[in-house]
Amino acid sequence: MGHHHEKHIAVILAAGKGTRFKSKKPKVVHKILGKPMIHYISLAVRWSNPDKVIYVVGHEKQQVIKAINCLNCTYVEQKDQLGTGHAVAVTKPYWENFDGIVMIVNGDLPLVEGETLKNAVKYMEALMRFEGAPTEGGENYRNEKIAGVVLTTKVPNPLGYGRVIKDKNHRIIKIVEEKDATYEEQKIDEINTGIYLFYAPYLKQVIDKLENKNAQKEYYLTDVIQLLNETGKEVYALLVPDYTQFIGVNDRWDLSKAENILRMKYLQFWSYAGATFHNPETVYIEFDVELSPDVEIYQGVSLKGGTSIGEDTVIEENCLIKNSKIGRNVKVLKGSIIEDSVIQDNAVIGPYARIRNNSVIKENAHIGNFVEVKNSTVGENTSAKHLSYLGDAEIGKDVNIGAGTITCNYDGFQKHKTVIKDKAFIGSDTMLVAPVTVGEEAITGSGSVITKDIPDKALGIERAQMKIIENYAEKRKKRDKND
Ligand code: UD1
Ligand code: CA
Repeated sequence: MGHHHEKHIAVILAAGKGTRFKSKKPKVVHKILGKPMIHYISLAVRWSNPDKVIYVVGHEKQQVIKAINCLNCTYVEQKDQLGTGHAVAVTKPYWENFDGIVMIVNGDLPLVEGETLKNAVKYMEALMRFEGAPTEGGENYRNEKIAGVVLTTKVPNPLGYGRVIKDKNHRIIKIVEEKDATYEEQKIDEINTGIYLFYAPYLKQVIDKLENKNAQKEYYLTDVIQLLNETGKEVYALLVPDYTQFIGVNDRWDLSKAENILRMKYLQFWSYAGATFHNPETVYIEFDVELSPDVEIYQGVSLKGGTSIGEDTVIEENCLIKNSKIGRNVKVLKGSIIEDSVIQDNAVIGPYARIRNNSVIKENAHIGNFVEVKNSTVGENTSAKHLSYLGDAEIGKDVNIGAGTITCNYDGFQKHKTVIKDKAFIGSDTMLVAPVTVGEEAITGSGSVITKDIPDKALGIERAQMKIIENYAEKRKKRDKND
């Protein structure tokens, strides 16, 4: 009764090559904040709640389908890319018997917000449904003249976009492409965003009538408007004020601009969620990253993949963190790199540390400057503060790793494991030739090459006897004179 929602089907155009990208890869798989460009428009479309999502794919379609990564979506192949009108025509079998709205969206619009598409559907429904008040009995009157809505926007520089020519009532007379526009038409600053809603039964009547008599010899989707007008149907412009949502990404510089806009939008989101950014213009945070309140991030930081950062953690200048889980109150000091690893609460990392390949740094541990940790576990309260390589090692708690310690984990053929038990003390410049185990509370002498297991509480030392030669400086001087 009364208020019911029209169904809608969404069609996303993603068959084009993206010639202007000058790339081996299709345009829509190029990444923005770590996700294929097509991901963002897909999210926005889904937000509008369509009954069905259809992608038109063609050029390198397997790559595109993989990037879209949607199981319950429909993929329709457009073998030759003859234009946006042709792309929609190949989807006709999927909506020709549908009594509702077909929403068509260009695949190269990563900045469009879900809310914008939702509102567009509501607007189209409203235009279609009412001509004045609901009629008696609660059934809405259908305005049979309404064929479509095109989202338009006014841009500072309309170069390259289709210009929207409309009458005083926002009814669109036609859309002219840049290359077909007269000098006067080129001055129009209201552009076609590449987002359309059509009433399916009317679109069906005209979609096969498009011709390609234009500058680009393409079947333009935009030409359906004139065809609809000729049959007495009406298409209206919905002018959206925020033009930044509608940057069409045609080349790599557009991609960079779009990424910057999205990046700032997400930084703003995290900022409102409780994170502080110093010099946010230089901070790069990918789509899947999660931040907690009271996180503080300094300039030049990159957070990539599925990284998450716990409360009160500080990340200093120029750190790179990828696919890692950082706990609460951690300090990641300047210039550190953390990949595919876990850093637990209250740990201190860096400056200039590198932690990678499934390493786990436990609570309160301290990995200092120029220390590399690979595929290793470092226990609670353990510190390795200077110039070390810890690879394939299992290190207990309260261990002290002296400066210059190295796990010699590779014999040229295989990697071997080093085990260092709780409270061990590794003297500076120890070489731990793996496989080897250092027992609990065991000690190694500085500069030792450890090739045998050290029992609990024992000292392992490997060092030539040190000699003292008295008065050596004087002897040397005499020798020089005799020469
Ligand atoms: C299009 C519009 C233009 C609008 C602009 C907004 C037309 C004729 N022009 O121009 O009015 O201002 O978008 O950004 O529609 N595609 C296919 N198959 C094809 C051709 C294109 O799937 O045969 C896809 C592309 O992959 C792309 C989208 O359609 O995602 C738009 O195509 P593109 O060539 O970028 O159109 P524009 O020249 O930008
Ligand atoms: Ca485009």
